[in-house]
Amino acid sequence: MHSPATLLPLSVRDVVFTAGGRDLISGVSLTLEPGPPTIVLGPNGAGKSLLLRLMHGLLRPSAGRVAWEGPAAQNRETLRFGQAMVFQKPVLLRRSVIANVLFPLRLRGLDGGTRQERAMAALQRVGLAGMAGRPARVLSGGEQQRLALARAWALQPQIVFLDEPTASLDPGAARQVEEIIAGFVRDGVKVVMTTHDLGQAKRLAGDIIFLHGGRITERTDAADFFAAPRSEAAQAFLNGQLTW
Ligand SMILES: Nc1ncnc2c1ncn2[C@@H]1O[C@H](COP(=O)(O)OP(=O)(O)OP(=O)(O)O)[C@@H](O)[C@H]1O
Ligand SMILES: [Mg+2]
Repeated sequence: MHSPATLLPLSVRDVVFTAGGRDLISGVSLTLEPGPPTIVLGPNGAGKSLLLRLMHGLLRPSAGRVAWEGPAAQNRETLRFGQAMVFQKPVLLRRSVIANVLFPLRLRGLDGGTRQERAMAALQRVGLAGMAGRPARVLSGGEQQRLALARAWALQPQIVFLDEPTASLDPGAARQVEEIIAGFVRDGVKVVMTTHDLGQAKRLAGDIIFLHGGRITERTDAADFFAAPRSEAAQAFLNGQLTW
């Protein structure tokens, strides 16, 4: 069991992100609390990936503020390692499968025995223990995504940001990845993710943030959202009539 999410809440206040002379994220405010997954939905180009990167700290807002407000946020080590992100296209080292999991554990300063133990447990969890010695680059797309999740899980984060973790996976591989995500949830990890798979969003989400044109049009409890979203943009999206 991972530690409780004491980095949270995460407070996002009036955040703007500008690039190429355009506000790609405009005046976004939200608070993330511990609890079931928060899923960010919206059409292509809405700003979902940018928002996740801003929350994870990979991008700095052009205006506004992103701040961890939980008691553990004072601890630099926890701030650095308490949150992990998995990208739509996993970024893997051109080394073995297990080396990819061991590497961040070494950065974290864990001793050799603990690194090995955690890495093997993580690979077992995602069904890749039998491939530990293989070069990561020969893995299929679904296996690479599972490896990226194993790497995140081995760090025992309090929060994980997952950017379309099942895009371009076949239904079986997507289901396997979804089961790994459900495992994070059972462990008490706060999951914040984007997906274009509405069935998956229904199964996993506690609440939905709907993003359109760089703005949040609504944030709604998942059951209510899928029964009847409040914003016109989300209504059009669910009807397949919102394409950008
Ligand atoms: N560094 C950048 N410079 C200029 N424009 C950018 C930059 N990064 C993203 N954009 C633009 O910002 C908008 C939002 O991009 P983002 O990747 O967040 O969308 P998204 O909601 O994740 O879409 P998708 O569903 O296709 O993944 C897009 O129009 C994109 O082209
Ligand atoms: Mg994206």
